[in-house]
Amino acid sequence: MNKKTHFGYKEVDEFDKSKFVGDVFTSVSKNYDIMNDAMSFGMHRLWKRILVELAAIGENDVVLDIASGTGDISKLISKEYPNTNIFMSDINYDMLNEGRNRAIDESFDSNCSFCQLSGEILPFKDNTFDLITVGFGLRNFTNKERGLMEMKRCLKKNGKLLILEFSKPINSTFSKIYDWYSFNILPRLGSVLANDSESYQYLAESIRMHPNQELLKNMVLNSGFKECKFYNLLNGVVAIHIGSDA
Ligand SMILES: C[S@@+](CC[C@H](N)C(=O)[O-])C[C@H]1O[C@@H](n2cnc3c(N)ncnc32)[C@H](O)[C@@H]1O
Repeated sequence: MNKKTHFGYKEVDEFDKSKFVGDVFTSVSKNYDIMNDAMSFGMHRLWKRILVELAAIGENDVVLDIASGTGDISKLISKEYPNTNIFMSDINYDMLNEGRNRAIDESFDSNCSFCQLSGEILPFKDNTFDLITVGFGLRNFTNKERGLMEMKRCLKKNGKLLILEFSKPINSTFSKIYDWYSFNILPRLGSVLANDSESYQYLAESIRMHPNQELLKNMVLNSGFKECKFYNLLNGVVAIHIGSDA
């Protein structure tokens, strides 16, 4: 029998998950940026800026942005550090294409390359990158442990991994309000703004199935990093984990 995994709250064959995730992101690709602003009241922009600040990027760093989607994180890095060499990468052609078109339209393509790839099997040599970022992508991986080990392998000895991902709110009252918002408002927003409630139902479910702050920290450590610290944002709705050997 095939191994099982989760796609939101559904149990599916491991083999099928990436296809289901692919269908979600193909469906949302055109409205992705509008929906992000609407769902988070624009806060995702601040969270991504904080990630870039925490990354302490060097002038000539080689950066891999995994699950880069429409390119928000790559854009921030490219504009602030024009001498870096950034690989924007995504498993989904439509999302990567949105990101590439945007990079050209908004003139941040000069130091960016574009690669369609899975973050779970990286086609790069060991010790290639100074920095790897994954923004709201890890949650969708079929095998997160394998992805983290690949990231560790491809980082230089003093390289850093920064993961920006939904996590678990700390305050229980806040958590209840957030649950209500996620399961009642998000799918409706998806329906009204993008004619797609199912993808946003998946978003709410996939967030609940993702490991909390401490579990993810342990996963990062188990993948070979000597250090992992995390920062909670918005009461833990989102967290940034930093893996390093420092
Ligand atoms: C929610 S979007 C995040 C996009 C962007 N990083 C941001 O923060 O706005 C998640 C992205 O992860 C990509 N993705 C899902 N599974 C992936 C995998 N195994 N490897 C690489 N990218 C993946 C999806 O195609 C999608 O573009």
